[in-house]
Amino acid sequence: MKSFQLRPLLLIVFQVVIFKFGHSYSSQGNNTNRIRCLERERQALLNFKDELVDTYGRLSSWGNDEDKRDCCEWIGVYCHNQTNHVTQLDLRFKFLRGKISTSLLELQQLEYIDLSFNDFEYAPVPEFIGSLTELQNLILRSAKFSGPIPHQIGNLSKLLYLDISGNDCNSENLDWLFNLDSLEYLDLSYINLSKATNWLQAVSKLKSIQELSLSDGALPETSLSSLPKINGSSPLTLLDLSFNSHLSNFWTLVSWFSNFSSTGLSYIILNDNNIAGPIPDVFENMASLTVLQLFRNGLQGGIPKYFANMSSLVTLDLSENNLSGDIYEVMMNLSAGLLEKKLSLLDLSWNNFSGLFPNMSRFYSLTDLGFQNNQLSGSIGEGYLRLPSLAFLDLSSNRFTGPIPDLSFSPLLRSLRLSNNTFDPPFQLLTLNLAQCKLVKHYPIWLKAQTELHTIDLSSIGISDTVSSFFGGTIPTFLYLNASNNQMYGSFPNFSFNSTDFLTSRDVALSGISLDVSRNKISGSLDFLCNVKEWALLDLSDNLFSGQIPDCFGSFLSLRYLSLANNHLSGKIPYSFGSLSDLTLLHLRNNSLSDGIPTTMRNCRGLKMIDAGGNRLTGNIPSWVGDSFPELIVLVLRSNEFYGDIHQIYVA
Ligand SMILES: *[C@@H]1O[C@H](CO)[C@@H](O)[C@H](O)[C@H]1NC(C)=O
Ligand SMILES: *[C@@H]1O[C@H](CO)[C@@H](O)[C@H](O)[C@H]1NC(C)=O
Ligand SMILES: *[C@@H]1O[C@H](CO)[C@@H](O)[C@H](O)[C@H]1NC(C)=O
Ligand SMILES: *[C@@H]1O[C@H](CO)[C@@H](O)[C@H](O)[C@H]1NC(C)=O
Ligand SMILES: *[C@@H]1O[C@H](CO)[C@@H](O)[C@H](O)[C@H]1NC(C)=O
Ligand SMILES: *[C@@H]1O[C@H](CO)[C@@H](O)[C@H](O)[C@H]1NC(C)=O
Ligand SMILES: *[C@@H]1O[C@H](CO)[C@@H](O)[C@H](O)[C@H]1NC(C)=O
Ligand SMILES: *[C@@H]1O[C@H](CO)[C@@H](O)[C@H](O)[C@H]1NC(C)=O
Ligand SMILES: *[C@@H]1O[C@H](CO)[C@@H](O)[C@H](O)[C@H]1NC(C)=O
Ligand SMILES: *[C@@H]1O[C@H](CO)[C@@H](O)[C@H](O)[C@H]1NC(C)=O
Ligand SMILES: *[C@@H]1O[C@H](CO)[C@@H](O)[C@H](O)[C@H]1NC(C)=O
Ligand SMILES: *[C@@H]1O[C@H](CO)[C@@H](O)[C@H](O)[C@H]1NC(C)=O
Repeated sequence: MKSFQLRPLLLIVFQVVIFKFGHSYSSQGNNTNRIRCLERERQALLNFKDELVDTYGRLSSWGNDEDKRDCCEWIGVYCHNQTNHVTQLDLRFKFLRGKISTSLLELQQLEYIDLSFNDFEYAPVPEFIGSLTELQNLILRSAKFSGPIPHQIGNLSKLLYLDISGNDCNSENLDWLFNLDSLEYLDLSYINLSKATNWLQAVSKLKSIQELSLSDGALPETSLSSLPKINGSSPLTLLDLSFNSHLSNFWTLVSWFSNFSSTGLSYIILNDNNIAGPIPDVFENMASLTVLQLFRNGLQGGIPKYFANMSSLVTLDLSENNLSGDIYEVMMNLSAGLLEKKLSLLDLSWNNFSGLFPNMSRFYSLTDLGFQNNQLSGSIGEGYLRLPSLAFLDLSSNRFTGPIPDLSFSPLLRSLRLSNNTFDPPFQLLTLNLAQCKLVKHYPIWLKAQTELHTIDLSSIGISDTVSSFFGGTIPTFLYLNASNNQMYGSFPNFSFNSTDFLTSRDVALSGISLDVSRNKISGSLDFLCNVKEWALLDLSDNLFSGQIPDCFGSFLSLRYLSLANNHLSGKIPYSFGSLSDLTLLHLRNNSLSDGIPTTMRNCRGLKMIDAGGNRLTGNIPSWVGDSFPELIVLVLRSNEFYGDIHQIYVA
């Protein structure tokens, strides 16, 4: 699993381009009481609306009422500020369904249409769109169109921006691109181009193309012998051929596109393509390359030395490949050039790099660094992660040892993953609170080295591990341990505290020891309790404990709170409960305890609450219950097999 991506960056780039063309229209003006809208166009828009299903009333401003007469004021409609013709229709994300009416043809001055993220119920893209000859922007992204892309779109010679991506469409050839001399942005991602064997020829005619996305297009293999002859003819900066695993000659294509571009490529996106073999020299002279996405391929070997000289590179994502080699050598390859000054994202995760962690501090612009799931080992040297801009760091699932790296130089750090290593922290915590962190499935190994920890909150952090792996370490030197609401299972080992130093401390004498492992799946007997005398709070409720409650409570002189509720305990309530003179709360509900309430419990004079409901207790409800517990507030004995008169009981 990848923990971080810079992919949103690309979205931002796309948005910038989208809005670049959308600026020169006056939007809804103010109430000057002058109706600007042309009546013919108003009728056309109303007819267009009639064919749509506007479930959420997004077009409620479109209507015949007096206050709605000016269509230039309608949501999504923009008129020219001098001619008053409707020039722009922006209905992105309006949750519209239905049909696109030919009445749009009345709007001959339309320069901009955006119908993205609506639901046209798998209708074809209408051919008549090709007759709106003023169109500069046509955006039909993810709008549930299907069928062939109409070649008539090729008649729109003023088109600057065309996005039909994310529809269930196909195109048997791309000859219709031949006349789109002005086109700067083309996104046909997800359009099935498997029959468009001439796609590269067609693309080579796009004299003005800046950004080209043909992701997930089932692009057919191109013949290397017939590569179109070109010569720095287009200002191409972005090439996205991701998810096109039918292609195999990617490096030739990259070289071709690089030659095709007069400006040099800035974004190369080739993830998810099954590209095997070593990283080639093809990127060597790409001085403008800013983002290189090669993740999820089968690349092998190391990272070539020339990368160090890639002076514009900001994002290098090589994760989920089969790259290997000594990581120290890799970083040496990437050092001593301009790369180390600019690189912001470096993702080498899910590869097969090995060796000792190198000093990364030369790469001082790094914000995202991923090395997870490699074979890196050893300890991380002091200052090796002196990275002032670091926000995401993932070193998990390697073989690191030694101290947890010092991250005090990274005040912007927001995400840190170190799990599945054997880091050995140099500090000795007294208090640790990871509650609700949801970070660990297994008990964090480094906790074993924390011999002075006394206050530990690991509640609700998703531990799904055995109790013995948890208590097998040195953890039993606690005063307070809350590991409730996890998925711990198995039974308690017969652990004991070494009470020579720690447990004779004043703190223990004063407050006793608290253990809360409620809401887990722990089974087995409660005999482990007998090894410790200093219990103050024991919450073992909502587990699978079984067997009898051991009769060793006579030594628990500090116990104030005891909950064994919702387990599978059976047998008698032990006589030694009678020694718990400080006990205030006793929860035994929903077990299978039988027999009566022992008379010794008359001595538990501090009890405020007793809940023994849902057991198999029998016999008389003892009359002394009323007299012996002067503090009692709550008494629950329901769902048992008692008999006798409840009205004898006096509850204060
Ligand atoms: C009309 O729009 C154009 C293009 O945005 C702008 O240059 C011009 O100033 C506007 N004219 C008026 C009268 O608002
Ligand atoms: C209408 O727009 C004009 C010019 O943009 C502005 O000066 C005026 O304050 C606006 N009037 C109202 C009522 O918003
Ligand atoms: C529009 O495109 C179609 C199909 O590509 C073509 O047959 C037709 O001649 C074009 N019309 C114009 C006016 O260019
Ligand atoms: C693309 O279309 C071809 C038929 O033209 C079909 O065989 C193929 O399965 C389609 N590919 C995808 C990914 O839908
Ligand atoms: C490349 O284009 C330039 C200028 O357009 C031209 O002078 C040169 O001959 C072309 N080279 C090739 C190999 O076509
Ligand atoms: C790109 O240009 C270089 C240098 O002129 C040339 O060696 C290479 O073969 C060209 N690539 C393709 C695919 O035409
Ligand atoms: C270092 O660069 C050389 C030369 O480009 C390359 O052959 C080698 O595989 C690289 N080593 C590593 C470990 O990346
Ligand atoms: C990097 O650039 C420098 C200066 O142009 C050059 O001397 C060096 O050989 C280049 N290194 C690589 C590996 O291309
Ligand atoms: C990774 O590369 C090694 C050779 O370097 C090869 O033996 C191994 O099969 C490759 N693994 C995968 C998953 O491609
Ligand atoms: C990783 O590299 C080691 C050799 O360094 C090799 O034995 C192992 O098969 C590689 N693992 C994979 C998944 O390719
Ligand atoms: C721990 O890391 C090793 C080595 O990278 C990996 O093989 C293993 O799957 C990881 N285990 C977990 C639970 O992530
Ligand atoms: C308890 O700890 C003391 C000092 O740390 C040690 O000498 C003693 O052997 C330990 N006792 C047990 C039973 O582990």
